[in-house]
Amino acid sequence: MKKISHSTRETEAISRSFAKNLFVGCVVFFLGDLGVGKTTFIKALASEIIGISPNEVSSPTFTYLHIYGDRLPLYHFDLYRLKDPKAFFQMGFDEYFDAKGICLIEWAEKIKAIVPKKNLFTINIKHLEKNKRVIEIIR
Ligand SMILES: Nc1ncnc2c1ncn2[C@@H]1O[C@H](COP(=O)(O)OP(=O)(O)OP(=O)(O)O)[C@@H](O)[C@H]1O
Ligand SMILES: [Mg+2]
Repeated sequence: MKKISHSTRETEAISRSFAKNLFVGCVVFFLGDLGVGKTTFIKALASEIIGISPNEVSSPTFTYLHIYGDRLPLYHFDLYRLKDPKAFFQMGFDEYFDAKGICLIEWAEKIKAIVPKKNLFTINIKHLEKNKRVIEIIR
């Protein structure tokens, strides 16, 4: 399914509506260039799923992983600085796939060739013009 977003607000609305598809143990890959809106999408998603304030959600660029919530944990990855895809496994991050939460992975391009395709959604965001994006949701 493809949707056009004309603004940050529209991306947030698309994200909130997508949230109802998620379930414990699922993994969401976020693909798309720098500044395309991956974190924007995740902030709205986290706020919809566990009620966290979007201000408390930020890209874990230097640490790779932020965890929000406890009853339903969200594992927010940002793999921008990951050099070797194997390092994802070496750091034990694949354990979070089975950790009874939901994994949200920015820059999933880095690992998508080598991770299991189970319970996976892919959100592929492309820049069209200034504030315009095409958001493709693949199950
Ligand atoms: N239609 C839109 N959808 C999403 N974000 C938009 C849109 N139009 C403008 N923006 C703006 O683009 C920026 C997207 O930044 P964001 O941090 O979400 O991107 P990102 O993909 O996570 O970047 P990075 O690769 O650095 O992690 C925000 O400032 C947001 O307000
Ligand atoms: Mg980001």
